[in-house]
Amino acid sequence: MILLDGKLTSEQIKEELATEVAKIKSKGKRAPHLAAVLVGLDGASLTYVNSKVKSCEKIGFGSTLIQLEESTTEAELLAVIDGLNKNAEIDGFIVQLPLPKHIDEQKVIMAIDPDKDVDGFHPTNFGRMALELPAFIPATPYGILELLERYQVETSGKNIVVIGRSHIVGRPMSILLSQKRTVGDATVTVAHSRTKDLKSITKQADIIVAALGIAEFLTGDMVKDGVVIIDVGITRVQDATKKSGFRLAGDVHFESVAPKSSYITPVPGGVGPMTIAMLMKNTLLAYNRR
Ligand code: GUN
Repeated sequence: MILLDGKLTSEQIKEELATEVAKIKSKGKRAPHLAAVLVGLDGASLTYVNSKVKSCEKIGFGSTLIQLEESTTEAELLAVIDGLNKNAEIDGFIVQLPLPKHIDEQKVIMAIDPDKDVDGFHPTNFGRMALELPAFIPATPYGILELLERYQVETSGKNIVVIGRSHIVGRPMSILLSQKRTVGDATVTVAHSRTKDLKSITKQADIIVAALGIAEFLTGDMVKDGVVIIDVGITRVQDATKKSGFRLAGDVHFESVAPKSSYITPVPGGVGPMTIAMLMKNTLLAYNRR
C-alpha cells in the first residue's frame, strides 16, 4: 500500500508556483492576487479560507480576505461580488461554500465573472470544462487528477466508481475521468444515495473516488484487492481525547480499506492540501490570461 501524499505533492506544486511568481516579480510586474469571501462563522469554512490565504502568502501572491456577517443579505453579497468583478487588482476570487440558508448559492455563483471564477463553479466554466475547452477546473477534481498523474496511477480503460454527485466534486470528477486526457479515458460509474447494491459496484472498481460526505462510509468488505482509493471526505467527528474536541474523518474507513489498497489518500493530508494548491494554480492561470 502506497500513500498518495497530498501534503508533500501540494508543497511541490506550491514551490513550482513560487518560482513562477518570483520570475513575474523580477520583471517588475505585480503579483497575482486572490480574494476570498466568507459569510458567517462556520468553523470548518474559516479554517479552509485561512489555509487558502496562508498559501497565497507562502507563494508570494497577494490576498484579500473579506469576512461578512452571517446576517449579510443576498443583495449585499452580490454587491461585494460586483466590486470584486470590477476590481482590476484582483485576478481571481472565491466565495466559500456553503452559504447561509437565506442566500441563493446558484445566484451568487452566476454573479461571478467567469474570467475570475478560479473555483470553476460558474456555468460558463463548468460547460467549457465538460466540452474540453480551456476552463478553470474545480480545484478538488483538478487536485485529484494532478495527484494521480504525479504518482503515475494508470486510469485509461480502468473501472472508476465516483461515489457522490455534488456540483463541486462528484459530477465534475466523473466528467473529467471519462474524457480523453492524460489522466482520464476511464469507464466511469457515478453512484449516489439512490444507488442499489452499491457494494456489488464498488467491488468491481479499480479506482474509487469517495465524495459523499459520510464519515468512514466505505469499508474494507466493499472493495477488491489492489484498489486505488481517493478519499475526498473531511468530516468533523466528536472526539473527547482531542484538544479541539473533534477529529477529522474521511469517507473511507482507513483501517479496513488501506490493507486491501494499492494506493490510498490519507485524511487529513490527501485531497485537502491538493485542493488548495490547485486553487493557487488557477489563480496564476487567471493572472496570465489577463
Ligand atoms: N466549500 C468546499 N469546497 C469548496 C471549494 O473548493 N470552494 C469553495 N468556494 N467553497 C468550498
